[in-house]
Amino acid sequence: MRRRRILLMVHPNLIPPEDIDGLSEKEIDVFRCEYNVYSTLRDLGHDVRVLGILDRLTELREIVKEWKPHVVFNLLQEFSGIAAYEPYVVAYLEMNRQRYTGSNPRGLMLSQDKVLTKQVLASHRIATPSFHLFPYGKRFKAPRKDKLRFPLFVKSATEDASLGIAQASIVEDMTKLRERVEFIHDTVQSDALVEEYIDGRELYIGVLGNNRLTTLPVWEMHFGTLADVQAGIATRKVKWDRNYQEKHGITTGPAEGLSEAEVEKLSRLAKRIYRALHLCGFARLDFRMRDDGKVFLLEANANPDLTYGEDFAESAASVGISYDKLIARIVNLGLSYEPEWRLYE
Ligand SMILES: Nc1ncnc2c1ncn2[C@@H]1O[C@H](COP(=O)(O)OP(=O)(O)O)[C@@H](O)[C@H]1O
Ligand SMILES: [Mg+2]
Repeated sequence: MRRRRILLMVHPNLIPPEDIDGLSEKEIDVFRCEYNVYSTLRDLGHDVRVLGILDRLTELREIVKEWKPHVVFNLLQEFSGIAAYEPYVVAYLEMNRQRYTGSNPRGLMLSQDKVLTKQVLASHRIATPSFHLFPYGKRFKAPRKDKLRFPLFVKSATEDASLGIAQASIVEDMTKLRERVEFIHDTVQSDALVEEYIDGRELYIGVLGNNRLTTLPVWEMHFGTLADVQAGIATRKVKWDRNYQEKHGITTGPAEGLSEAEVEKLSRLAKRIYRALHLCGFARLDFRMRDDGKVFLLEANANPDLTYGEDFAESAASVGISYDKLIARIVNLGLSYEPEWRLYE
């Protein structure tokens, strides 16, 4: 691989150190993804600089102009603390004719908004749970009984990382629904998205590519003993609390027992969704599959977590795409993505 100038764009609190000798796992956890990507790019022989971005673009503008990176490796999740502003940073890069890794602004914007995602997919006849939106700042108005059937699932329409998601997100009656909608409004301060609750298996599919797409093996979250006492859903604790995961035997790994035809169907579905949402680079799609085999997209994650050993990297590794190969591939996809400006070069 050619040596490239790569600018790693991260949150300023997550700038990885040169090396991690002497740090505890807990200390490393904070910037694990950033460190994994940084050290891998360096080990691949690239010339890497790290830039922390909080709420201004001055340094980015200068470094893009002066240093002329071949590509910006985008690990940002927000700008000015606001996730919805992240696409604008990528848009800024694009307007400056700067290549970058991961999703383009349109893909980021569509996938971040769970309702827009549903609306786009509905026009492609792709199933997502039926829903009702309770806008932030508006008083709770009970939906018509025939509109939504309990149990329902209440979450934020825009936040990710399971913010505001707990067992109490599953509601069985109107009183609980109202309570939880108000909880999302008060604590997350976003629109509350109420969906039909999909009881079933939790499946993730990674996709890589711009024009020609590759899907990674179907990955499944197993809820272990948790499923005996409560509904298996990916709450914050399930996703991030290592002790909790160990205690309940919560693991993720290849989805087993799916027929070849089912795997093929899921893979085709994942590619259709990726294209419908204008994603590029890489993404992870979260699905639920009911016992009757019906599959629903819960959400699309543009630029998903790239931490070594986490679902996306693990599912790639299971088909021989080692971590350094994965990072190299993401860099190459960033270099070869064709934004509009390429037509006017
Ligand atoms: N309609 C639903 N039915 C069943 N479980 C759901 C539903 N929506 C979300 N969940 C559960 O909550 C988790 C997080 O929801 P998701 O929409 O993926 O939001 P996030 O962006 O926080 O990951 C899912 O992985 C799933 O376990
Ligand atoms: Mg999710």
